[in-house]
Amino acid sequence: MNYSYLDCLAVLGVGGAHPGGLKLTKDLLANENLNESTKILDAGCGTGQTSAYIAREYGCHLTALDNNAIMVEKANERFLAGEVPLKAVEGTVEELPFAGGSFDIVLSESVLLFTDIAKSIPEIARVLKPNGKLIAIEMAMESKIRDKELEPLKGLYENAYFRTEEEWNQAFSHAGFKTVKAEKPEVQFDPEDIDTVPDYSLSEPMDPVYFDIMKDHEEMMKSYENTLGFRAFICNK
Ligand SMILES: C[S@@+](CC[C@H](N)C(=O)[O-])C[C@H]1O[C@@H](n2cnc3c(N)ncnc32)[C@H](O)[C@@H]1O
Repeated sequence: MNYSYLDCLAVLGVGGAHPGGLKLTKDLLANENLNESTKILDAGCGTGQTSAYIAREYGCHLTALDNNAIMVEKANERFLAGEVPLKAVEGTVEELPFAGGSFDIVLSESVLLFTDIAKSIPEIARVLKPNGKLIAIEMAMESKIRDKELEPLKGLYENAYFRTEEEWNQAFSHAGFKTVKAEKPEVQFDPEDIDTVPDYSLSEPMDPVYFDIMKDHEEMMKSYENTLGFRAFICNK
């Protein structure tokens, strides 16, 4: 059986599985004027760490969606355990099950690189209100590198597509976002600060192969640390 990196994240139940972790999410959201009437879609919510935080901290109207049934189940377990009144739904970002103009903000944290952006980014634009905003945290190549050098990355993160900041900017503009701002946040990994480290909710029984895939991921990130960075894209419709 061939396990994908995304299967691995789901089975290990990795929460905060995006560059910068919950710390970066909190910093970005502090710049927004969030309140109980703000409608937010957490597209590709994973185990729901971000959704639970926003619902608790700001009381926003939250919708959490992911296309992985295990992730959806674990997000709902998190919401139940934390008494957060949310229910994650299964669905795909390429075909969002929501009416046009439904959300003030769509948040997408390390998700779009795994999607078909010719469909997912226009879908996000469609479900946003006329003055809505997409906040996307995505890995970005610091410079264009040859396909051959990308092969090991492609091997581990199958179906992922690695883009430069410029390529992401173009994709967002092409989908109709009027302004696109790319930020290069500095977030220091700090083992003492739980907001900078992921949390886990393991499935049982656990095949040890998943720990190997995670180890490969950590080694891969290290070996590409000068080539592969990340950006927070703030895109206004
Ligand atoms: C790297 S994880 C990030 C999860 C979460 N945003 C976080 O920061 O912890 C990527 C997530 O995107 C989800 N995903 C990937 N492709 C998707 C798609 N086409 N539609 C919906 N969710 C998708 C995966 O199942 C996974 O939960």
